[in-house]
Amino acid sequence: MSEAPRHVVITGASAGLGQALALAYAGPEAVLGLVGRNAERLAVTAELCRQRGAIVLLGRFDVATEASALAEWLRAFDQAHPIDLLIANAGVASTLVDDRDWEDLARSRSVLDTNLYGTLHTVMPVVPWMRARKHGQIAMISSLAAFRGMAISPAYCASKSALRAWGDSVRPLLAKDDVGLSLIYPGFVKTAMSDVFPGDKPQLWSPERAATLIQRKLQAGADEIMFPRLLAEGIRWLNMLPPRLADWILERLSLAPAKSL
Ligand SMILES: NC(=O)c1ccc[n+]([C@@H]2O[C@H](COP(=O)([O-])OP(=O)(O)OC[C@H]3O[C@@H](n4cnc5c(N)ncnc54)[C@H](OP(=O)(O)O)[C@@H]3O)[C@@H](O)[C@H]2O)c1
Repeated sequence: MSEAPRHVVITGASAGLGQALALAYAGPEAVLGLVGRNAERLAVTAELCRQRGAIVLLGRFDVATEASALAEWLRAFDQAHPIDLLIANAGVASTLVDDRDWEDLARSRSVLDTNLYGTLHTVMPVVPWMRARKHGQIAMISSLAAFRGMAISPAYCASKSALRAWGDSVRPLLAKDDVGLSLIYPGFVKTAMSDVFPGDKPQLWSPERAATLIQRKLQAGADEIMFPRLLAEGIRWLNMLPPRLADWILERLSLAPAKSL
């Protein structure tokens, strides 16, 4: 993408990385569509973005359960302000309390509903509009957890891995219509989500630092954005090891649940 995107939609903009991204894109030329569930937190992000000169439209939706209403809102936004950049960022975490804990079907489904289907609910409606215009960029926030399942968060790893596989699959199809698809793989970013993560958080980045890097790389049209580099390299290396050895290392790094008492 050569020109800076003016019409930008971001889900999960009420907190954390989504809020930092909203602020990064806020400016006098920008029209931002910000989606989240929590009205008070969304209003705070909106006010901060307006102070930077952006026009802000808010959509209060649960991306997992309100697909139709979200699609309608996206349509209205897109008709008034054809979307240049869509960032599907909303997500939830799930971690095991200890090694006797288990994500049953309901818990697993709820994580996949938000992280996988919530993302698809966001992206799917916009794809045909961007393809018809032969313009636009879609960014999906996955995680470095997409590259290796970790015993501390099975459903989360599965959801982020599914985004990776889906995104890699559709990228060449969308490229035929000049629509970009970028997958973003953060390591640990200091937000409410990582605050409650029980394991070690090596190389924790601030949301502002993460948002700045993401914005710069998206502007350059990157297909993949991974950070921090050392952690990303470490996960690549881990995948070359026999699985049990990799499991053992992850346990040493406290990326496996604590032993039950
Ligand atoms: N923090 C990390 O270390 C880290 C690392 C790798 C990847 N990520 C990914 O980065 C993304 C942002 O995470 P974060 O760390 O910024 O988390 P966060 O501070 O907990 O913020 C999550 C955001 O997603 C929204 N959200 C969650 N479920 C939603 C739903 N069903 N419908 C609509 N909005 C929903 C929340 O909205 P409400 O405020 O309205 O609930 C909030 O705005 C996630 O996809 C996460 O998996 C984070």
